Amino acid sequence: MADLLIQNLSEVATALGVEPLRGAEQGRVERLSGVEVVCRDGRIAFVGPSAERMARFGEMAGAERLDGEGGTLVPGFVDPHTHLPWAGSREEEFRMRLAGATYQEISASGGGILSTVAATRAAGEDELERLVLGRMDRMLAWGTTTAEAKSGYGLDRDDELKQLRAIHRASEIHPVDLVPTLLAAHEVPPEHRDTRERYVELVCEEIVPAAAEAGLARFCDVFCEHGVFTVEESRRVLESGRRWGLAPRLHADEFEDSGGARLAAELGALSADHLIAISPAGIEAMAAAGVTAVLLPGTSFFLMKHTYAPARHLVEAGIPVALATDCNPGSSHTESMPMIFVLAVYELGLSIEESLTAATLNAACCLGLGEEIGSVEEGKRADLVLLDAPNLLHLAYHYGVNPVAAVVKGGRVVFTASPP
Ligand code: NIG
Ligand code: FE
Repeated sequence: MADLLIQNLSEVATALGVEPLRGAEQGRVERLSGVEVVCRDGRIAFVGPSAERMARFGEMAGAERLDGEGGTLVPGFVDPHTHLPWAGSREEEFRMRLAGATYQEISASGGGILSTVAATRAAGEDELERLVLGRMDRMLAWGTTTAEAKSGYGLDRDDELKQLRAIHRASEIHPVDLVPTLLAAHEVPPEHRDTRERYVELVCEEIVPAAAEAGLARFCDVFCEHGVFTVEESRRVLESGRRWGLAPRLHADEFEDSGGARLAAELGALSADHLIAISPAGIEAMAAAGVTAVLLPGTSFFLMKHTYAPARHLVEAGIPVALATDCNPGSSHTESMPMIFVLAVYELGLSIEESLTAATLNAACCLGLGEEIGSVEEGKRADLVLLDAPNLLHLAYHYGVNPVAAVVKGGRVVFTASPP
């Protein structure tokens, strides 16, 4: 594989290190000007001035070149919370919401997650793979190089495994890397409406072991929320996951404070996600346990709730904050991390630098990938995004446009925006 030399950059903007940044450190982003980047064997081999590059690597006549054209280089975005493998579509529910119905009302009347479950159960594995690949194309075009992807629309053993296999197959052939999560406890399936206890048992004793034995999942997730799974049920599922080697993460306190954040702290989860309704006790517990908060401002926006997670309190409490799309058909239909970045700055009150750390290094760390990805520094995998922007500020300042000029994955240029 040829080396890659990236030149003519106005700046390289990146958090640094292999650990999540928290508190005042969350906004510690280096903005280097006058530097070039060399990628070798899929990794970043050098970030520094041209003269030093010449001294260490020479002319690099045989290398591929990426002309930065005065743009900004940032780490590839890492999207640590998505529900990629779904079939069907829910625009009619969206219209009901526009007419005033709430997400919970739609769910209670049999729509919501369960309508996607019906469509996903009916879809074949090839069809799901094709749908996932289409979403990954859009992710890549908006600068995402690694994403977590959850099951959770199968809600029985075979359909959950079908979703996980679709994730694996898509990840194998697409430049974007997917990290799979089992979310069998996303909702109680219709056939267990009157036997929910039996479903929790099925998840713990059948679905978790089957996913783990097949090597199909790295994490186990639960939708811990009033009206979905209780704290006690969530604990059982996540403990079962852990026994089978699947690290815990959870949907917590999205609509009400249901104790999800405290459960995440108790279990030492890799992340607690959503947290719009987190309580002061939940914040304290997560800070003490070092659990990362994955914030999904796309859901507040898409559900038109005008209430966002208390991001500033979380940062000030010393909790590492990450950002994700939550890409799904019901509560956040987007693949775009730059869109989430804009919401983080405009609605969560994060600074541009804090948002960059949240969308890259902190996101990578909460997927257990902090040593590999999430920053532009020597030794890390060469997953990079070239922005058509003179500096980092434009990521939020120029909104509603795709800022991505090119994407490098593992040291190869895998995407370039077509010229206007
Ligand atoms: O993260 N909160 C639960 N699950 C998804 C929504 C899934 C759906 O509506 O299909 C979420 O928001
Ligand atoms: Fe979600």
